[in-house]
Amino acid sequence: MNTPRSMRSLAMAVVLGTTVTSFARAQGGAPARVASPDGRTVVTVQVRDGKLFYDVQRDGHALVQPSRLGIAFQGAPALSEGLRVESSADSSADEWWTQPWGEVARVHDKHNQVRVNVAESGGAARRFSVVFRVFNDGVGFRYEVPAQPALGEFAISDELTEFALADDAKAWWIPSNRPRKDRSEMLYSSSPVSVIDSVQTPLTMQTRDGTYLVIHEANLANYARMNIAGPEMESRTLRVALAPMNDNVKVRGRTPFVSPWRTLQIADRAGDLAPSVLGLNLNPPSVIANTSWIKPMKYVGIWWGMHLGTMTWASGPKHGATTENAKRYIDFAAANGLGGVLVEGWNVGWDGDWIANGDMFSFTKSYPDYDLRAVAAYAKQKGVHLIAHNETSMGIVNYERQLDSAFSLYRSLGIDAVKSGYVADLTKEGHSHHSQYMVNHYRKVLETAAKYGIMLDAHEPIHDTGERRTYPNMMSREGARGQEYNAWSAEGGNPPEHETILFFTRLLAGPMDFTPGIFDILEQSSGHAHSAQEPRVRTTLAKQLALYVVLYSPVQMAADLPENYEKNKPAFQFIRDVAVDWDTTRVIDGRISDYVIVARRQRNSQNWFVGAITDEEGRTFDVSLDFLAKGKRYVAEIYADGPGANWLRNPLPVAISKRTVTADTKLHVVLAPGGGQAIRIRPEQ
Ligand code: NOJ
Ligand code: CA
Repeated sequence: MNTPRSMRSLAMAVVLGTTVTSFARAQGGAPARVASPDGRTVVTVQVRDGKLFYDVQRDGHALVQPSRLGIAFQGAPALSEGLRVESSADSSADEWWTQPWGEVARVHDKHNQVRVNVAESGGAARRFSVVFRVFNDGVGFRYEVPAQPALGEFAISDELTEFALADDAKAWWIPSNRPRKDRSEMLYSSSPVSVIDSVQTPLTMQTRDGTYLVIHEANLANYARMNIAGPEMESRTLRVALAPMNDNVKVRGRTPFVSPWRTLQIADRAGDLAPSVLGLNLNPPSVIANTSWIKPMKYVGIWWGMHLGTMTWASGPKHGATTENAKRYIDFAAANGLGGVLVEGWNVGWDGDWIANGDMFSFTKSYPDYDLRAVAAYAKQKGVHLIAHNETSMGIVNYERQLDSAFSLYRSLGIDAVKSGYVADLTKEGHSHHSQYMVNHYRKVLETAAKYGIMLDAHEPIHDTGERRTYPNMMSREGARGQEYNAWSAEGGNPPEHETILFFTRLLAGPMDFTPGIFDILEQSSGHAHSAQEPRVRTTLAKQLALYVVLYSPVQMAADLPENYEKNKPAFQFIRDVAVDWDTTRVIDGRISDYVIVARRQRNSQNWFVGAITDEEGRTFDVSLDFLAKGKRYVAEIYADGPGANWLRNPLPVAISKRTVTADTKLHVVLAPGGGQAIRIRPEQ
């Protein structure tokens, strides 16, 4: 057919529900522009002097100044100079979708998109596109490179994406790219962006006019994890820094290919950052048709004893994973309505230096004092999920070799959940923990788990970029400094402000298996006395309860030893009652590194839970319960810091009370220094 090219693409665009912008406009080099549905955020994409730039405006002010886009290759010229815009196409979407589980049940994907098609003016005339999607809560963009003769197989040496911040915003960050310490289990620092060095994402920032901005990524697949390199002297231009493989190549692939989305979440208030759904909207829908077997749950585990040093993963007299112990934990879970039991140290490979000996782990063979089949059968009989533990110590080849046989064994025994672990900074072959090699490994484990009907909880993971939308068996991850540091970290436990930062940083990526709920705050169960300076949990007991509501995870551990819960049944009641799956989430108030107050409504229920936590400062709030249904009476069960409670001197007192509340109630919430409050609100009978 002899239809002119522009007509053909117009016809196609209409079929796809899109409109093509004036070809002439783009030819003339005029910028392509796309605004958020509410019109507040505007992205402009343009070529200047052969270089491709984007910028972001918020309410008419620059948020991100013109920033370079491009890709550098090993063995081929970079795609970054001599460029021209060939055409661009606009489209938009407005739809709701439902999560099988989550912080919110329904998610609104409403965005406007522009696809800008770019080509080199000379040379090999290579082509690529950048696609920008602009939502009310932020921006996502990615590179799409079609198959073409001049660009087939490639090795990316650097992604040249920049974020030239208009303001010297305050940033909360953990470092990246520390030699042999490429991990996420660190305490947060804050500083102006102009002085940051090399940091991880989500990178949360507050500009001086009070706007919040978070850089992260979405749908990280077959690519390297993105870190952020700090600016050159006297600038505020952040750059993408990809985690390397052992030969320093960042990404190997062949066209056609798409990069992960680079995301800029934008909010007026810190509290509006959560729950964050921008990344979820940028991931493909679920590939698991029947998700009925995927169930949020609370769990206990043979775990904290090893961190305290009273039990061992390795065989011997203190071996934690014995048949008898496991049955005791299963009984405890069943008696208290907790869905799961994690058993660590059940499998052969922990003897000797397990961190160095990742090649020695078996994922099917148990120690002689642990009868895997008997324990699995007992768990099944008691209606408890047994969670198998797979520590790899980064022995990836060893793990992948056993993956199918291990997961099919678990499935045959009715084990439908795995907690994995990746202690060590590099693979045995020397790839970065966050390299494309590892991204592909994690994806392979996730797909294999989906195939065998297994839910996954990954520790030392690749950071969360919203994979749970596509694979809802991707339940939770660690990927930050969790409770375990309160047992043994050399510099002491986590400071009281830690979780008030996590909420606005790491948790924006997705659920975290923080493992709250330590009641033996002085760690007397470890057998040696603790002074205030020694590692122990820097919290009040009420704050441990509040963390179940504040730090979202669909699998939430009751981390302490069962005997410590038996000793404090009144406080433990909250852990028994608290939900792990939510219809609605409302951040009532919060300030990064100071405090957070969150209300969440339980999925398919009229019960609400409120969690409030503070840093080392005591604080009081009057919390309006206007989120409750009007004209209805509820009972609030309140777990507050007791008289004189204080994280340092007097962490244990919890005052438990009940009162009637309505949507008109203002609750006076008093938080002790390092304290918190947990509230269950249920309709009056
Ligand atoms: C680190 C994990 O975070 C922790 O939960 C686990 O107990 C140890 N690795 C051993 O795998
Ligand atoms: Ca860890």
